[in-house]
Amino acid sequence: MTELAIHTDQLSKAYDKGVDALKNLSIDVSQGEVFGFLGPNGAGKTTTVKLLTGLLKPTKGQCAVMGLSPSLRQTDVHRICGVMTDSARMYGQMTGMENLAFFAQTADMDEKEAKTRAEELLKAMDLWNARDKKLRAYSTGMTQRLSLARALVNRPKVLFLDEPTSGLDPENAQAVNRLISSMASGQGVTVFLCTHQLRYAQDICERYGIIEKGELLACGTLESMSKSAQIYPKAAIRVKDGDELEGFARTDGGWWQTDLTQEEDMPPLLKKLVGDGHEIYEARIVRPTLEDIYFRYVQIHGEEALS
Ligand SMILES: Nc1ncnc2c1ncn2[C@@H]1O[C@H](COP(=O)(O)OP(=O)(O)OP(=O)(O)O)[C@@H](O)[C@H]1O
Ligand SMILES: [Mg+2]
Repeated sequence: MTELAIHTDQLSKAYDKGVDALKNLSIDVSQGEVFGFLGPNGAGKTTTVKLLTGLLKPTKGQCAVMGLSPSLRQTDVHRICGVMTDSARMYGQMTGMENLAFFAQTADMDEKEAKTRAEELLKAMDLWNARDKKLRAYSTGMTQRLSLARALVNRPKVLFLDEPTSGLDPENAQAVNRLISSMASGQGVTVFLCTHQLRYAQDICERYGIIEKGELLACGTLESMSKSAQIYPKAAIRVKDGDELEGFARTDGGWWQTDLTQEEDMPPLLKKLVGDGHEIYEARIVRPTLEDIYFRYVQIHGEEALS
């Protein structure tokens, strides 16, 4: 069996004043997977990253990164991990180039190697023209990209990204997402991505965990989570003006929609509509989005908490 990149078992953290920030989290992430860890503010995402990188010790349960315990083997874990969080500070009075070269050297590279690595990353992050500017003169988006570059300096096997695209404009966010995907598919880097940006997450993640108030509400692929949340794909059909489809709801632009239990129900449905004399101009399946699934789980959890 290939070693799991990330494994947690009943992982829990209570901060000093009895705040249960994380309760019994059990998840596995395979090598090369892009795992989206989603949840509202205060859900426990950053706490999880801190536990997985050894910055916090669990109150209960355990975790491992590439088979190593982060609290017992912090140095070894840091060698194979890259972390990008808000709190990972760099030096404002140093240039982008100097910052990256410095962190490359702290990751055991000699001066020449460090410079080469810094150059590579500045180019990849579209910061080449800003390489000699002091960091304090960088915009938010530029700082974000530099801190992603910093997380990549040691060519990590596992990358922890805490809201990597939050300060970025759509174009830069897309570029960062493409880079994340290509690292996972091309270089087998495992990515643990904490985010609120569900659309971007849906573009790049293979599996997800949804967390709220320290509890894992769901875990799986888009398909498996939509099945268990009972959110079905919809058939959307456009017929001739003036025609009406019984059992369908009318939507914008002359489209009609109905729930399917599964995608396989689409062909017989179309056959029946044609058999009944309807003229179909367009037909498609509308699959649930990550946003649909996320809000359903958060809503179910809210209702359970109230009852
Ligand atoms: N150092 C701390 N001391 C006490 N409580 C803390 C500490 N850090 C976090 N918490 C609490 O733990 C819970 C989880 O916080 P965490 O930062 O892990 O959430 P998050 O999912 O990362 O949220 P956000 O999306 O806002 O970044 C919150 O209730 C928070 O107030
Ligand atoms: Mg956070």
